[in-house]
Amino acid sequence: MKALEKYKLGNVELKNRLVMPPMCMYSAKDDGKANEFHFTHYETRAIGGIGLIIVEATAVMPNGRISDRDLGIWTDEQIEGLREISSRIKKHGACPGIQIAHAGRKSQARATEPIAPSALKFSDDYRMPQAMDEKDIDHLVQAFVDGAKRAVEAGFEYIEIHGAHGYLNHEFLSPITNQRTDKFGGSLENRCRLLTWIIDQVKSAIPEHIALGLRVSVSDYVEGGIDGDEMVRIINQVKEKLDIVHISSGGLAPVAMKAYPGYQIRFADQVKHECQVDTMAVGLITSVEMIEEILNNNRSDLVAMGRLLLRDPYFALKMYHQAGVMGGIPEAYERGF
Ligand SMILES: Cc1cc2nc3c(=O)[nH]c(=O)nc-3n(C[C@H](O)[C@H](O)[C@H](O)COP(=O)(O)O)c2cc1C
Repeated sequence: MKALEKYKLGNVELKNRLVMPPMCMYSAKDDGKANEFHFTHYETRAIGGIGLIIVEATAVMPNGRISDRDLGIWTDEQIEGLREISSRIKKHGACPGIQIAHAGRKSQARATEPIAPSALKFSDDYRMPQAMDEKDIDHLVQAFVDGAKRAVEAGFEYIEIHGAHGYLNHEFLSPITNQRTDKFGGSLENRCRLLTWIIDQVKSAIPEHIALGLRVSVSDYVEGGIDGDEMVRIINQVKEKLDIVHISSGGLAPVAMKAYPGYQIRFADQVKHECQVDTMAVGLITSVEMIEEILNNNRSDLVAMGRLLLRDPYFALKMYHQAGVMGGIPEAYERGF
């Protein structure tokens, strides 16, 4: 099976092409530190044979948390718990990744005020964000750089910048949420300026052996928002220092989207071929057949499964068994197959 073949992500070798995408567990306390639940949750998926495990959206600033229960990476005190997660992942031969994030106008953390490119609410259930000035932008870039350095110190080998789901970086990219008239708004180049800056600064702050990726929402599902062709232009602007682009969609506006099996694969395929970058496909991918179809037809390089791995952490072990590769199954679990 192609899914069980090794893959080189930048300078990091993955034992297979199966990924657990970032999924907020909303299980931290106000201090944003990782706890026993996170240790067990992530280690279980590593025992389960997944090649790359990406820790949930971890906030680079206190006002960048989606909720008060998010993990944080804005202070050195949060490094120790994150290091425990990465070492438990590595112990089982998986690669530890982490998504660093800022929730922008979608932050519902109670102790802080939300910020955004423009003062526009997500919906009536959300607070009005403060439009960022240039000082706030400098501060944000530095927070991503510091977060990335802490991620390296905590032992992560893949860092993913969150640029999807209507959070801060996505809010700058989309003309729907970015109505600025300065050098960070308006033209495509201007809307990409912040993200390009963050990627450049993060890349120069981390060692060569650490892989760098970006998660994007390829479609806003809103008239006048980002679509596949616009995302191709965006990725062409920002791709130079990236090892992979993780292809999701939606989240910018409170609109219903149609999620059907493999609903985002066509976007991963489009970005991969039109931008000539490696991609990670995700979104209701739930069977060995779907995974093999994506990889063998060269539609994406890695395949991530989110909700499936919440309910079935040993899915990859079943794949190893099906392929007759017993070496992929931990010795202690062999009798289960
Ligand atoms: C509980 C939960 C939490 C999530 N948290 C994040 C997150 O922290 N960052 C992110 O980029 N996506 C997040 N997502 C989206 C998933 O990474 C994934 O893209 C989505 O669930 C679709 O894939 P699936 O159909 O395989 O679950 C979350 C999804 C779920 C179900």
